[in-house]
Amino acid sequence: MGPRILVTGALGQIGTELVGALEEKHGQGSVIATDVRDAPGCRILDVMDADGMLALVSEEKVTEIYHLAALLSATGERNPELCWKINVEGLENVISAARANGCRVFAPSSIAVFGPDCPSIAPQVTPLNPTTVYGKTKVVCEQLAMTSGVDMRGLRYPGLISYKAPAGGGTTDYAVEIFHAALSEGHYTCFVREDTRLPMMYMDDAIRATLELMEISSDTLGGARGGYNIAGCSFTAGELVDSIQRHLPEFTCTYEPDIRQKYADSWPNDIEDDVARAEWGWAPEFDLDGMVDAMFAGLQA
Ligand code: NAD
Ligand code: SER
Repeated sequence: MGPRILVTGALGQIGTELVGALEEKHGQGSVIATDVRDAPGCRILDVMDADGMLALVSEEKVTEIYHLAALLSATGERNPELCWKINVEGLENVISAARANGCRVFAPSSIAVFGPDCPSIAPQVTPLNPTTVYGKTKVVCEQLAMTSGVDMRGLRYPGLISYKAPAGGGTTDYAVEIFHAALSEGHYTCFVREDTRLPMMYMDDAIRATLELMEISSDTLGGARGGYNIAGCSFTAGELVDSIQRHLPEFTCTYEPDIRQKYADSWPNDIEDDVARAEWGWAPEFDLDGMVDAMFAGLQA
């Protein structure tokens, strides 16, 4: 018998691609996609509904939960109390259901766990003093991975870039929106400065990392299991524009930083992923130009 998998927040940027990847790996019918929003093929499940979560996990004999439901940094800072409730209490509900049913859990962390006191190239082990509520919820998430008694794993995803679903209200959304604007308008007004450098990753690398991490035997995972640093490609907004102009030489971008600049400035420029490489063989495949080429190929197909 293969795993029986529950995905929360399945209609979001990651879930849109992870559900298909899990079905491809484990078979059609192995995955129960859920979200608070309604859509064909997706069951309604609010992660704040602890009883509903427990009932679904028990009735469907779920063995693995990929917990993607969350509010991201920009949306979270606009409504910090709701961000804490969904991100922390929602995760606690997942952990309770997992503990009662012996499930393994994947719960993503983020580069948002780092704060201004982190080196510009973030090591795996460094003080975690984020300035955003979203970042604080991700620190709690990593701590629960170590203390909950459930086999729970996570990755500190960089900003994720993909074309199949819109980005979901994060600070790194400019690196997704820019492609749509380039193709439809030939121009983008970017909400961070041209010299803003952040860790980013193409979605294919992120999905592969997720599947690889969940394949590893629990015994071989060390103290980073709640949030492994994984690096993809790090670039400034200006360097992204240059790479897009290889495809669209007439494309222009202007810069009008808003409040999200502050969140971006509190995060590192790049991350060291030596621990993930050593413990489970992580290696990215997409650099900046490779990611941009893949985005254009996907959007123009
Ligand atoms: P997203 O915003 O695109 O999707 C989140 C989904 O959760 C949405 O479909 C939303 O409807 C759903 N949701 C919201 N509240 C819910 C609730 N109460 N119950 C059930 N579902 C609810 O987010 P994403 O980009 O797919 O991110 C998934 C996870 O990965 C999050 O934990 C996020 O913090 C993390 N992450 C994402 C990125 C990124 O760049 N996308 C980077 C780092 C970490
Ligand atoms: N991409 C996410 C955000 O910007 C980072 O977790 O919120």
